[in-house]
Amino acid sequence: MKMLFRTLLAVPLALASMQAMAADYTIKLSHVVSAHTPKGQAADLFAKLVEERTKGRVKVEVFPNSQLYNDNKVLEAMRLSGSKTTGIMAAPSLSKFVKFSKTLQTFDLPFLFNNTDDVHKLVDSPLMTRLTKGLDKKGLRALTVWDNGMKVFSIKADKPLRNIPADFTGKKFRIQSSNIAASMIEHLGGTPQKLPFKEVYTALGQGVVDGQENAWSNVHSKKFYEVQDYISVTNHAYLGYLVVVSDEFWSNLPADIRNTVSGALKEATEANRKFAAIADKGDRKKIEDDKYAKVVELTDAERAAWRQATAPVWTEFRDEIGAELIDDVKKLLGR
Ligand code: SIN
Repeated sequence: MKMLFRTLLAVPLALASMQAMAADYTIKLSHVVSAHTPKGQAADLFAKLVEERTKGRVKVEVFPNSQLYNDNKVLEAMRLSGSKTTGIMAAPSLSKFVKFSKTLQTFDLPFLFNNTDDVHKLVDSPLMTRLTKGLDKKGLRALTVWDNGMKVFSIKADKPLRNIPADFTGKKFRIQSSNIAASMIEHLGGTPQKLPFKEVYTALGQGVVDGQENAWSNVHSKKFYEVQDYISVTNHAYLGYLVVVSDEFWSNLPADIRNTVSGALKEATEANRKFAAIADKGDRKKIEDDKYAKVVELTDAERAAWRQATAPVWTEFRDEIGAELIDDVKKLLGR
């Protein structure tokens, strides 16, 4: 009986290790948001498609919620990883590449995009090659862009963010590691504070910062709205992700495997745009229904004032990003 029990126990273990042994390559896909967000859903779909289509030769392990790395650490880990069989992949927000790319800062320019259709126009254009140029020399291979959505501002205060600089004065705002976001907050009248995503809820709850900017999906999934009084629908910038992998790992993959993985990524990207569109509407509605934070729209005049106040940010970063590149992006978007 004991013998039978041991044998029964050993079978699934043996099967599991055979499956693990069957994988020639492993991709560890690390991200910082929840599994049910647009990025989390795309990551899980990608993992499923890769495993199915490579018949288990490539295994993708997805680590959500900063379980493996935060976004800054993952890029270092990716660059330093010398493994040809285990690749680290991540999808950090475009704003988090500031140490590795000046050109990608374009995505942070305030009021560059009116909506995600504008973003797709840029991301699907040949300009994307110029925007990601040089990342491979830093050990990072850019593969695709995944959406979250347009950003809104939230605050704990007795009134919403509408009038600038008055409503920003004396207030601290959590931002990602973006110098453009820092300058934008200063031009709006507030004080920026860079913090990892993982720390935002606590920082808001404990009053370390008064407010933050993010897409609806993050405000909802990480419950920021529960510790904020107002959300202003500003759509002042885009939150999206550059999917990257260690360049060395990617270049060493056999061509057939690389093509299959690229195909799965393309499909996951198409699905991600749908997941993001659904989350954008759905999560805003859930936040409004929950009634912790009141959602307010800016008037046209208020929006124009925000745009005007943040216009100097463009001049400040024009040379660093590249004047010609900015002009070509503007031309593409019909600005
Ligand atoms: C993310 O959506 O991956 C995080 C964005 C942030 O840090 O605010």
